[in-house]
Amino acid sequence: MTEKQNLWSGRFANEPDAEVFDFQSSFRFDRVLFEDDIRGSLAWAEALTLAGALTPEDGVTIRDGLETIQEQQKQDPNFLSGPDEDVHSFVERKLIELVGDAGKRLHTGRSRNEQVSLDLRLYLRRRIPSVQKSIVDLVDVLVKKAEISGSTLMPSYTHLRRAQPMMAAHFFLAHVAALRRDYRRFDVTLDEVDACPLGSGAVVGTGYPINVHSLAEKLGFSRIVENSLDATADRDFVSSMLHGSALIMVHLSRIAEDLIIFSGEEFGFFELSDQVTTGSSLMPQKKNPDPLELVRGKTGRTVGHVSGWLTSMKGLPSGYNKDLQEDKEAVFDAERTVLGSLQAVIEVVKSIEIRPAVCEDASTGLLLATDVADYLVAQGLPFRTAHKVVGSIVQNLVSTGRDFSELTLRDWKNYHNLFSDDILDKITPQGSTRSRMTPQSTNPEAVRASLDRVKDWVSSCRN
Ligand code: ARG
Repeated sequence: MTEKQNLWSGRFANEPDAEVFDFQSSFRFDRVLFEDDIRGSLAWAEALTLAGALTPEDGVTIRDGLETIQEQQKQDPNFLSGPDEDVHSFVERKLIELVGDAGKRLHTGRSRNEQVSLDLRLYLRRRIPSVQKSIVDLVDVLVKKAEISGSTLMPSYTHLRRAQPMMAAHFFLAHVAALRRDYRRFDVTLDEVDACPLGSGAVVGTGYPINVHSLAEKLGFSRIVENSLDATADRDFVSSMLHGSALIMVHLSRIAEDLIIFSGEEFGFFELSDQVTTGSSLMPQKKNPDPLELVRGKTGRTVGHVSGWLTSMKGLPSGYNKDLQEDKEAVFDAERTVLGSLQAVIEVVKSIEIRPAVCEDASTGLLLATDVADYLVAQGLPFRTAHKVVGSIVQNLVSTGRDFSELTLRDWKNYHNLFSDDILDKITPQGSTRSRMTPQSTNPEAVRASLDRVKDWVSSCRN
């Protein structure tokens, strides 16, 4: 690289080794911070002018120059290229090429150490809302499926063995609950992002009388950072973003896993449309849920970004260290992965057809055993005793290949004298869900109320 292509060549007798320079350069990936870098530089030039560190004329020249560069980038898709070390060097080079000496004054009292923190904060502040918007879109399609499922019941599972009947809507709303937490977690990340680092200088603060409070306000921050030494090396907001991304991927992966299982031949509760499945090159009958498998698979890389990034940070001495540059590829990849996965899951969920007959068939039978025990408890039997009685009924039914629905009143009474004729109507899948009593349960009223709450939430997020 030649001398004019980096910002720090004055101190060096020789030019940097081309390969090493290339190795440590970040422009190939940090160019996506271009608009943030311009925004920060515009604000910095104004703050310098207000502080008397730039003449008003230079201030205007720099502003016009930066705006021209911004315009050039909009017009020319190949604009963001060059041998520059990073996006900050690129913008400064372009500015100097355009306006000459005034451009050389822009970096007065500023360091790339604070600039890169600012740019990434501005970037996350404009990008996280798109992730959140996609979360709301996914919640919305899950809510629509929950509504379409009406009063359909399906089995709930623990240990992937049938547990108790539940509303199919309860299943969709379970995933909604996790996604709403993800949304909130990104709000917390946005709050961490919301502190302006400018004025920190390279490490101990700037030597110019910059009004950092009005600068922060100008850039839309609600506060400034507390400590310049901390601020130039603080990437907690990056770990928070990566953690939020990893966790939503874990949730998307669980949705994917449920849908893969429940749409397979062995369960058959849902049917995935041809548009979101793929065939086999060999086996003509196959209809594979590839997009869901890929979401599940991509979860690994986002989880990897969290541990990779924490490992990069853990041994750093105070102040800026180049290791911190590793934050960006992790953030950009996590963002791309989460957005792509959300989109894929949205399309798959939209396409799901619920098969009520299959769901309901699977929701009856021995998974009503807990309701039978509760019946006996209502007659006064201690729960532990009731559990034992019903356990032995189940043992008997299993060995004779039957379930509760095949028992006559006489059979019931033979098992225990506390059973009376209402047992025949009480022990049904619908009765089971109706008898759940808590707001978070699968009781149809509770599920309806939960659906209403989620719909209100979706509208409030969209307004
Ligand atoms: N490309 C660098 C990064 O992403 C910018 C900051 C460079 N600062 C420095 N002192 N080398 O971290």
